[in-house]
Amino acid sequence: MDVVVYESLYGNTAAVARAIAEGMGGDTRALSTGEATPELVDQARIVVAGAPVHGMSLPSERSRASAAVKPQGEGHLAADLDHPSMRSWLAAMERGPRLAAAFDTRIRGPLGHGGATAIARALEAAGLTLLDEPRGFTVHLHTTASTPAALLTEGQLDLARGWGQHLRACADAAA
Ligand SMILES: Cc1cc2nc3c(=O)[nH]c(=O)nc-3n(C[C@H](O)[C@H](O)[C@H](O)COP(=O)(O)O)c2cc1C
Repeated sequence: MDVVVYESLYGNTAAVARAIAEGMGGDTRALSTGEATPELVDQARIVVAGAPVHGMSLPSERSRASAAVKPQGEGHLAADLDHPSMRSWLAAMERGPRLAAAFDTRIRGPLGHGGATAIARALEAAGLTLLDEPRGFTVHLHTTASTPAALLTEGQLDLARGWGQHLRACADAAA
């Protein structure tokens, strides 16, 4: 079993995670940071982790709290804060000789960086070996949307599936 672990407030990173897991195939599971317990992660040979970019970095308790008070009138999804931040999940992750990859969801332009690289650094610090460079998937510049995953720009889920296939091929080559 391999895992794609995600933090996702509005469903976009979750949808990318599911597409990556589909591309990786086999019994790869996409799990939120709340679902990805140490027992499950312990069984994985590959751990892929992703989160939205907030403030050119990983979401913090402060940025998550600010998302919670954004306009949530009719047509706007409430931020899902039921699962922990990727930051805290990574801090609690057990060390181990696993394969790994990191991604984020971001807007296009100068603000769109800082998530996947931070995840990659944390994975390496925990003893995991990166299969590929950190990867970003793009969303439209709105912080709220009416339906989950509605912010992704065109073609991102196909790119995510393709990247999942690529990660699987890299892992097979490393076997
Ligand atoms: C509080 C907050 C801060 C954000 N800051 C950035 C940023 O600095 N750079 C960026 O590219 N996107 C930023 N975004 C947009 C997020 O990347 C976007 O909401 C996210 O990719 C959606 O993914 P999700 O549905 O999985 O939460 C921010 C969003 C929020 C809510």
